[in-house]
Amino acid sequence: MPQYFGQLPTIEPSWKAIPPVTSVETDDRQITLLCGDTRLKVTILAENLVRVRFAPTGEFLPRRSWAVTRDDAEWETIPFTFEESLEVFCLHTEQISVHIWKNPVKIEFFDGQGRPFARDREGGLAWRAGSVAGWKVIEPEEHFYGFGERTGLLDRLGSIATNWTVDAVDYDTLTDEMYQAIPFFIALRPSLCYGLFLNSTYWSRFDLGVREMGYWRMETHSPELDYYLIYGRDPAEVTRTYAELTGKMPLPPRWALGYHQSRWGYDSEDLVRAIAREFRDRQIPCDAIHLDIDYMHGFRVFTWSQKRFPDPHRLINEIRQQGFKIITIVDPGIKYEPEADYAVFDEALQQDYLIRKPEGQLFHGYVWPDKAVFPDFVDPDVRDWWGNWHRVLTDAGVSGIWNDMNEPSLSDRPFGDKGQKIWFPLDTCQGSPKERANHAETHNLYGLLMARASFEAMERQRENERSFILTRSGYAGIQRWSSVWLGDNQATWEHLEQSLPMLCNMGLSGVAFVGCDVGGFAGNTTAELFTRWMQSGILYPLARAHSAMGTIRREPWVYGEEVEAICRKYIELRYRLIPYLYTLFQEAATTGAPILRPLLYHYPDNPKVYELHNQVMLGSSIMAAPICRPGGEARSVYLPEGIWYDWWTGERLEGGRYILALAPLDVMPLYAREGAIIPLYPVCQHLDEIPASMTVRIYPGTGEFTLYEDDGHSFDYRRGIYSTTRYSVSTRGEEVVIEVSDRCGEYNPGEREISIEVIGKGEHRFLDDGTAKQWTF
Ligand code: GLC
Repeated sequence: MPQYFGQLPTIEPSWKAIPPVTSVETDDRQITLLCGDTRLKVTILAENLVRVRFAPTGEFLPRRSWAVTRDDAEWETIPFTFEESLEVFCLHTEQISVHIWKNPVKIEFFDGQGRPFARDREGGLAWRAGSVAGWKVIEPEEHFYGFGERTGLLDRLGSIATNWTVDAVDYDTLTDEMYQAIPFFIALRPSLCYGLFLNSTYWSRFDLGVREMGYWRMETHSPELDYYLIYGRDPAEVTRTYAELTGKMPLPPRWALGYHQSRWGYDSEDLVRAIAREFRDRQIPCDAIHLDIDYMHGFRVFTWSQKRFPDPHRLINEIRQQGFKIITIVDPGIKYEPEADYAVFDEALQQDYLIRKPEGQLFHGYVWPDKAVFPDFVDPDVRDWWGNWHRVLTDAGVSGIWNDMNEPSLSDRPFGDKGQKIWFPLDTCQGSPKERANHAETHNLYGLLMARASFEAMERQRENERSFILTRSGYAGIQRWSSVWLGDNQATWEHLEQSLPMLCNMGLSGVAFVGCDVGGFAGNTTAELFTRWMQSGILYPLARAHSAMGTIRREPWVYGEEVEAICRKYIELRYRLIPYLYTLFQEAATTGAPILRPLLYHYPDNPKVYELHNQVMLGSSIMAAPICRPGGEARSVYLPEGIWYDWWTGERLEGGRYILALAPLDVMPLYAREGAIIPLYPVCQHLDEIPASMTVRIYPGTGEFTLYEDDGHSFDYRRGIYSTTRYSVSTRGEEVVIEVSDRCGEYNPGEREISIEVIGKGEHRFLDDGTAKQWTF
């Protein structure tokens, strides 16, 4: 049952509600209403997508494309019917109806069966000095997900979600503002779902029934309220439309799906070489090593330390031969260093690329390099210039960029001097002379635009080679430029447990390529916690272990042989799953579907999974129930309706019930759904090696899987050089029928042996020549 903690529903007297409708205009896309001096506009963009704008001043803002990739006029016009009665205007598309009441003004939405959703309360559009807000009804059985990066549980009903990027160091389950600000959520009840994107980069907040019982509220410090309402029968329809709105992620290089090893403290070439050697000697697969701020000269961005990294080109080349890629951290704060021949600073100053105070002086704060100044990434020229400096890294052979501290994070005193975190003055002007905006409007965009600079630079500098971009901060649409990690988590069981709902909510917010520091960043982990974390970690779309300087190290071999063997087993599983995962990444890149999913994504009509935060699905076929508590040798697992198979033993399990799963330290409960088709590579040590064989594991039932393949590293797929092969399974009495389609497309994976493994039935090997086949087991 929903819990409410608030008062009775009254709007505080300081809010002014929208006055009654005085006149109306319509055209083939929208209806615009004059309500006293205010203006309200409802625009139909698709059968299931409506934009609502409310301008208390009567003037709509000129549109800025901070997140939404298309102007209203760029959507295909779709037919809708319009009716007016004495009291209400009604707009009907094929999927939904929108009712706009004249006095008092309120907007209500209905699905095809007439069920209401996203209904304004009376006076549900209002404003007061500096703020504008909307209130809507929380329907019975409605639950709320997404909201970008959120600590705590999966379902956000009864919580507050503020959208303002901060360095959320030491975050816990009560933390509100986080590194990412994504003002988007999905509301779900059985067979009815909607998404809402609040199109404001200004400070904003959702209140999910905390202050007003039975209502949720959105509020922003913007001159107008502007939101996109997406209707869907299930969350997948909503995430698909949200991706149309805010953009899709580019397909990463295949190696980026491998295991990444990172640490703040890999502070010499020798140490990096030694880490790489250990992985290969111990036969633990790994594709990437991250270099933290240790590689820089005195924390100056775009420099290498002569002492610790005297020949990065040689180092990177050497370890590339062993199949490793190097990813370097880049922080936005430029060391303030006049007359020191630090070219990054000198150029930034000469070109006037730095953030200034409203009065004109340079703005500074303190970060790793001590006194620092900050580029204005809102200006495209600054992004290009910053991007060009990436040459210092790409010329040495760096394959990926890790953007950190870009909320931005800075303090008013030197680090370690008990400084306060600060941000740029809100009335500071940013952007090119053509498009100026103040920091109140652009604050949430600092990380996104920095990541965009890196993304565009890497595309320019690494010819026909995909790169990996990682960012800590971002705003809606960040998926177009970068993957994301969840900042400085802690080596505690609570942080392990909440990583699953946090990553799932990010996935529902459009960010599919997401991970958090495996093992926990701050503090020390125990062998048991580290082992359990590695098991969960191989499910994260981004599987990267990272840790803070001074803590116990987090490489898989640090905690003794037993832990090492278990880590190897799970990292090997990750590598075996690569063809399955790569197809999921391709799906995310084309449809916006998350990769790691809460169960409600596939079982949206089953309220039993609405609050299930500690079980996850990897794509539609695999479900995991990680162990997130110490001493756990068993846990309860909810199996949704249908038949499930234990991944490890092949045992067939009836769903629609809870089971007790045994989970000694080397077992993470893992299941495949009936009809699942899961392509698996043989174990390899890194993903430059393309295995010459593949197993396709098939679970009896009815299902299909379309395998996506390409060369894994170049942009040739954008020119159509990829292939798809459809596998399907069905049952005929006791028999299981497997069909493989002709391979479609121009990419040829080469000659290889494929083994079809039907669980409980048997195995069949064949030489894959790309032609259709069929077998009965
Ligand atoms: C920040 C980052 C962390 C990094 C550290 C040093 O705390 O979140 O990942 O290791 O800075 O650069």
